[in-house]
Amino acid sequence: MSKAHTIYEEAYEMWNPNKVDTFRGYGIELSMGERAGSRFKDLDGNEFINMHSNGGVFNLGHRNEEIKEALIKGAELVDAGNHYFPSHYKNELCHALLNVSPTNMKYVYMLSGGGEANDAAIKFARRATKRTRVIGLDCAFHGSTGISMQAGYESMAEFFNMKPNPEHYTHIPYNDLESLEDVLKLNDTACVIIETLPATAGFPMPMEGYHKGVQELAHKYGALFIADEVQTGLMRSGQMWCVSKYGATPDIIVTGKGLSGGYYPMSAVIMSEEAGAWLKEDGFAHVSSFTAPELGCIVASKAMEITSRPSTQENVAMLTALFAKGLDDMVGKYPDFITEIRQCGVIMGIKTAHPMGGAALMGSLIKNGVWAVMANFDKSTLQFKPGLLMKEETAREVLVRLDKAIQDMKVALPL
Ligand SMILES: Cc1ncc(COP(=O)(O)O)c(C=O)c1O
Repeated sequence: MSKAHTIYEEAYEMWNPNKVDTFRGYGIELSMGERAGSRFKDLDGNEFINMHSNGGVFNLGHRNEEIKEALIKGAELVDAGNHYFPSHYKNELCHALLNVSPTNMKYVYMLSGGGEANDAAIKFARRATKRTRVIGLDCAFHGSTGISMQAGYESMAEFFNMKPNPEHYTHIPYNDLESLEDVLKLNDTACVIIETLPATAGFPMPMEGYHKGVQELAHKYGALFIADEVQTGLMRSGQMWCVSKYGATPDIIVTGKGLSGGYYPMSAVIMSEEAGAWLKEDGFAHVSSFTAPELGCIVASKAMEITSRPSTQENVAMLTALFAKGLDDMVGKYPDFITEIRQCGVIMGIKTAHPMGGAALMGSLIKNGVWAVMANFDKSTLQFKPGLLMKEETAREVLVRLDKAIQDMKVALPL
C-alpha cells in the first residue's frame, strides 16, 4: 500500500473523488513529497522528472533557491499590502514586465490566476471598444473563471450550465482566418482572444503568418487582439512572448503561471493605452483584494529577473535543440506510433497515431519516472513541457525514459 493511500481515501471523500479515481486508474497514488529543480518525489520516495511543470508554474523549477530567498526576505518586510495604494514593489513588477513587452504596451494590471486575468482582459477590451462580442478558438482553454470559460472550449462552460450566449461569444477553428473575418464583419467584436499555441489541444503549430493575420483582421474591424500567453509566455518559446516570436503585436498580453515563481500565485494583464483606457477613467472600476499583492510582486519581480537573463535564454536554446534532435530520433524509431512532433522552444506536443495515445503515454511515463500530461482536448497527444532551467543531463534522461515508456506501452496498446 502506498504511503499516500490514506490521503487518497480522505481525498476521495471530501476533495475530488473523480481525480482520485483517475490516478488510481493509472495504477498510482501520487502525492507530492520532496521537490527541487526539475524533479519531485512521491511519498514513497519514487522520483519523477517534471515534464508538466504545471503548464509553466514551475518554469523556473521547484523551490527555486533565488525565488525562495526573495519570498522569505520579502515576508520579513511586507505582506499582501493594500490594493488601493501605489507601491514601490508594484511599480518594480510593472517595469519588469513592460521592459520586456512590445513598445505599444503601457499599463499592467496584476491579479492571481490566469483565468482571472483573461476575464479581466476581456472586460477591459469590452470597455475600450464599447462592444461585447468575444471571438475565441474552439480548442482553447483560458481558465475556469466565468468569462474565460465561456471564451474557450464550449463544453467546459456547458458542463456548468454556462452555455455562452451566441450574441456575446463566437468560437472559430484555429488557423482559420477566413472564419475569423466572417465574424469580425459583424462589426460588433470587442476582442479576439487566442492562446498563442493552444496547450490543451496539444500545441498544434500555427500556419505561416497566422498571428499577424489575427492582429491585422482584428484591427481592421475595430477589435482588440488579446494574446493568452499564460502557457506560452515567459521565455518558453525562446523569446519572452511567443506571440512576438511569430511577428505579431497584440493589444493585450495575459501572463500568469510562471510569474508566481512556483510560490505566490500571480498573473498580469499587460495592455496598450487604448486597452487600459478605463484606468484613467475610473481606476476603482475593477478591484480585487489581491490585485498586485506586495509580497507577490517581490516574488514575481525576481521570477522576471531570472527569466530575462541571457543564461536562461541560452539554456532554453540548448534544451530546444536537444529535444528537437531527440524527438526526431524517436519519430524515426517509432514511426507507427509518433505521427508528429510539435515544438516551439520548450513548448512541445507529441502526437500519436492512437486516439488515446497521449493518455497511454502519460500512464507509461509515470511508471518510468516522468510526469507529463496528455492534451485534454486531444488525447492522442502528450504535452511535453520542461522548465527553462532543466539541466542537459536531465533532458537526456527524459529522452531515455520516454524511449522506455514507448517500448513498454507498445506491448499493451494495439496499433
Ligand atoms: C493558456 C491558459 N490560459 C489560462 C489558464 C488559466 O490559468 P489559471 O489556471 O491560473 O487560472 C491556463 C491554465 O492552464 C492556460 O493554460
